[in-house]
Amino acid sequence: MNRDRDSDLWWKSAVIYCLDVETFLDGDGDGVGDLRGLIERIHHLDRLGVNCLWLMPFYPSPNHDDGYDITDYYAVDPRLGSLGDFVVLVRAAKACGIKVIIDLVVNHTSDRHPWFRSSRSSPTSPFRDFYVWRDEPPPGPHPENVFPDAEDTVWTYDERAGQYYLHHFYAHQPDLNIANPAVRAEIEKVAGFWLQLGVDGFRIDAVPFLLETHGLPEGTDLDPHLLLKELRGYIARRQGASALLGEVNLPPDELVTYFGDEPGDQLQLLFDFPLNQYLWLAIARCDARPLRDALVARPPAPAESQWANFLRNHDELTLDKLTEAEREEVFAAFAPDDDMQLFGRGIRRRLPSMLGGDEARIRMAYSLMLSLPGTPVLFYGEEIGMGENLDIPGRQSVRTPMQWSPERNGGFSTARPSALRRKVPEGRFSPLAVNVADQRRDGGSLLAWMEHVIRRRRETPELSWGECEVLDLGPDHVFAHLCAGDDRDVIAVHNLGTVPCEVAVPVEPGCTIVDLLQGDAQPTAGEDHRLRITLGAYGYRWFAVQPSGRHRAP
Ligand code: GLC
Repeated sequence: MNRDRDSDLWWKSAVIYCLDVETFLDGDGDGVGDLRGLIERIHHLDRLGVNCLWLMPFYPSPNHDDGYDITDYYAVDPRLGSLGDFVVLVRAAKACGIKVIIDLVVNHTSDRHPWFRSSRSSPTSPFRDFYVWRDEPPPGPHPENVFPDAEDTVWTYDERAGQYYLHHFYAHQPDLNIANPAVRAEIEKVAGFWLQLGVDGFRIDAVPFLLETHGLPEGTDLDPHLLLKELRGYIARRQGASALLGEVNLPPDELVTYFGDEPGDQLQLLFDFPLNQYLWLAIARCDARPLRDALVARPPAPAESQWANFLRNHDELTLDKLTEAEREEVFAAFAPDDDMQLFGRGIRRRLPSMLGGDEARIRMAYSLMLSLPGTPVLFYGEEIGMGENLDIPGRQSVRTPMQWSPERNGGFSTARPSALRRKVPEGRFSPLAVNVADQRRDGGSLLAWMEHVIRRRRETPELSWGECEVLDLGPDHVFAHLCAGDDRDVIAVHNLGTVPCEVAVPVEPGCTIVDLLQGDAQPTAGEDHRLRITLGAYGYRWFAVQPSGRHRAP
């Protein structure tokens, strides 16, 4: 497993936690979450056991896309704090052994960014070529805009410039011209700036769009992977043990190319969007087969890279890689109302409400995600089972304030509720029912369970470094996999359905078996050298199996 390199290649076995500073904790009572608030709550993350924090954009922004529309890459949105606060946060996180990665959003800027203002003002502006301009859109077909509910084109005419500009996302997010070396140099400078302030890497937004050549002048010769290699090379020169986590939603065979060549010279982490979608299909069907097939089909990550697993993130749960019939199945199971769906391809809900608040099923889903080979990524609030607020339009429904206590605004802010940009949900998932403070006092809470399972995950490097094999133990509703380590193997078994069952896993004679999650009984294999495992509805178990010949006790 080569764990000697664990500290350099920390991303191979990290547990990542994503949050938006704006919705985490309001430290000064103005209704907006801020860096001071986050610093105050860093111990929550420490206790949870995560060891990498991913911060969604916190830069100055008109906030027309929740901060993914940036007007200054070298500053902090003054509503959230200052660069000084940022450095305090980084130090506070590091003191707890938590790495910090930040969103690098360089496919586009806000249309209010000084570069775009200058660019559109005159054809002779030094920033004209920072963006992609055309007298006429190129002959079709054009790529579809990412937000089809709001935009029907990727080319918009700008009166001031007298030309069309390219935007894969909203019209207020003009795409930067990656073919321009000055733009690439600026992206490196931005990355270098934040590395200097102590970050450990970046979550790179919208990678395939950043590297897309549509609309660039004819004859432009761009190798997108060379560009990624160059960026990685620059960042590695500045700080070797830093990670680039890519948002790349492509089919597995294309997706894997973004790692680069062995040992991994482009992105160190890639969200596994295809696996995520088949995982949801499997949960919806109570049938492990879509997940088994997806994991078997997943190409191996190069030696120094890793797949990133997740259940939900800050965007809609996109189901775009499923067939229409499969997507409809997941919609029918978890988002039956039109209002719960988005863009015809996704779901704007959080997991606990999708699973009807069924805590056994919720735990099974997280146990499964946390046991899959790869690096798990959690979205804030998942540790306590927060639901969404569907009254908030679009993707923002899942970006409600963190629910710290049963108090007003869920303890997120002391401001009057009308001062909050987004309101906490009411009803079953309101802060009265779901909050950190109550769960902290309850040893049987989801939060206590999450802390336990996250710790176990971190103590089980086989799940990150080991060779993974998908096991077929018989019932279609059981998902089982084995990760082989140097000293021991780890086996995880999950019942995706409600029908209880007994399954048997073949093990080597004389091996020692340890139950990693429940830890109460010493399981033993039968005389036929099979470990018999009983699973109730949505049951799950993790075991370490150490053959007698291997040297270290598990
Ligand atoms: C990514 C982000 C999303 C954002 C978009 C445009 O997909 O995850 O939230 O709107 O990029 O930056």
